[in-house]
Amino acid sequence: METIVLKLGGSVLFEPGGELNSDIVSKWLSVLVDLTQHAKIIVVVGGGRPARKYISWGRNLHLNEYECDELGIQVSRLNAYLLLAALKHRVSNTQIRIYGSIPKSPIEVYEIKDDYDVIFVGGFIPGQSTVGVAAEVAELSGARVLAIGTDVNGIFDKDPKIYSDAKKFDLIMVDELINAFLRGSEFAGTYTLFDIQSLKLIKRSKLSVLVFNANNPEIAKNVILAFLRGNIEHVVKYASMIVV
Ligand code: UTP
Repeated sequence: METIVLKLGGSVLFEPGGELNSDIVSKWLSVLVDLTQHAKIIVVVGGGRPARKYISWGRNLHLNEYECDELGIQVSRLNAYLLLAALKHRVSNTQIRIYGSIPKSPIEVYEIKDDYDVIFVGGFIPGQSTVGVAAEVAELSGARVLAIGTDVNGIFDKDPKIYSDAKKFDLIMVDELINAFLRGSEFAGTYTLFDIQSLKLIKRSKLSVLVFNANNPEIAKNVILAFLRGNIEHVVKYASMIVV
């Protein structure tokens, strides 16, 4: 069975006020159960609002950037554990094999990946984001696809939350994103989505990347399943696809 790496940003898990968005989380847990019928899933969970709060508290207390990143990592791992424990309550171990802790390194993921259907991951080391983690994990687990859930319907030429005429890219070459980064004119939204390091990993390991709105888990699931079935027309209708 093939492996999908799914990154769920913290913006999906938490409401603007900071509360857990239990409705979306619950829907995502059902989607994960459905997806395990088709692939092994490595879910990389972001830090979201709680991470940003801790980081600002850290700055107030004069922590350095490394220490602030460490706070973000701990929070993303905590979020990952919340989803892990919640999924364990939904399914029996014979139904879906869920790895019972949050791996501390990419190599730990590599060592256990064949024995589990679902593995939850948070941050690893300071100086990157959980998208970097997702690209790393996708490369070493031999995944063909990296699915990135965010709060807009894909990658746009400008911020769709501000500009109503923003145009979604259906398909976009990874080199186009890398060049935009190097020119310092990254497309709206992609700055927070990708860093140059993750784009390079995507390129060298020839990953297909799907960027979709994770606020509707059912549509997101259908985008992922459409990709697995080779129905790219459906994928680009509801998401953006980065190709190498
Ligand atoms: P993210 O910024 O990746 O979380 O990690 P997120 O919630 O998905 O972000 P959004 O929703 O896309 O905005 C939280 C913080 O944890 C630290 C960084 O400080 C990051 O901003 N972190 C995370 C690391 O330093 N290393 C990691 O490997 C992961």
